[in-house]
Amino acid sequence: MRTYCAKDYYHASRMAANIISAQVIMKPDCVLGLATGSTPIGTYEQLIRWYEKGDLDFSETHSINLDEYKGLTAEDEQSYRYFMNTHLFDHINIDKKNTFVPDGTELDSEKACRAYEEIIRAHGGIDLQILGLGHNGHIGFNEPDSAFAKETHCVKLSESTITANARFFATIDDVPKEAYTMGIKSIMQARKIVIIVSGEGKAEIVKKAFLGPITPEVPASVLQLHNDVILVGDEAALAEYNKEVQ
Ligand code: F6R
Repeated sequence: MRTYCAKDYYHASRMAANIISAQVIMKPDCVLGLATGSTPIGTYEQLIRWYEKGDLDFSETHSINLDEYKGLTAEDEQSYRYFMNTHLFDHINIDKKNTFVPDGTELDSEKACRAYEEIIRAHGGIDLQILGLGHNGHIGFNEPDSAFAKETHCVKLSESTITANARFFATIDDVPKEAYTMGIKSIMQARKIVIIVSGEGKAEIVKKAFLGPITPEVPASVLQLHNDVILVGDEAALAEYNKEVQ
């Protein structure tokens, strides 16, 4: 695993955006695995700036998002489809037909997950997967568990995730209790992975996930087994990790 430690969130975002840019320039018809959440917002803003300057062209690029709340429509401001449209897709020249997010409106979980697996398969897998890191070590919505979940599946969100995500909803009761998420196997099959971390709140879990034992109780720890992972973070998020490795 390679680590890039940036002095702050802005510079960490620029580094992540640089890696995505390189991917899109080298392989314009690549498949990007994308994440939502607070962390990649700065990365997406940077990509938009470079697109506006004429440095990037997403016209042939495809994207497959990690997850979606079950029950939310694309028009729901809290849905991950809405997030992707407003934070990235509406501002670049990606063809929305080439962007995929699990279908939150499909209430038949088995059908929704099977359809998403087929989308991932039909695209030949993911070239570059972007990840954020949950405070409990989750990636996508793969929550701490007794085994690594392999394929796209429906999860019951943990209390800590519901509490963390409540900041985006009017009340905590409005946070959906279930979500569809890409599984660990699909994430691990990505040819390259960039995980972005920011802020001191992530410092402990970064250390645990990347220097601790590989266990489904810390889902991100499985990334230690991938042969092309780049951890991009600011000094605050990497503080505990850096203490151990230096
Ligand atoms: C989002 C996702 C989640 C987030 C994680 C960190 O698509 O899959 O795993 O990456 O919850 O969220 P933030 O970036 O808000 O701290």
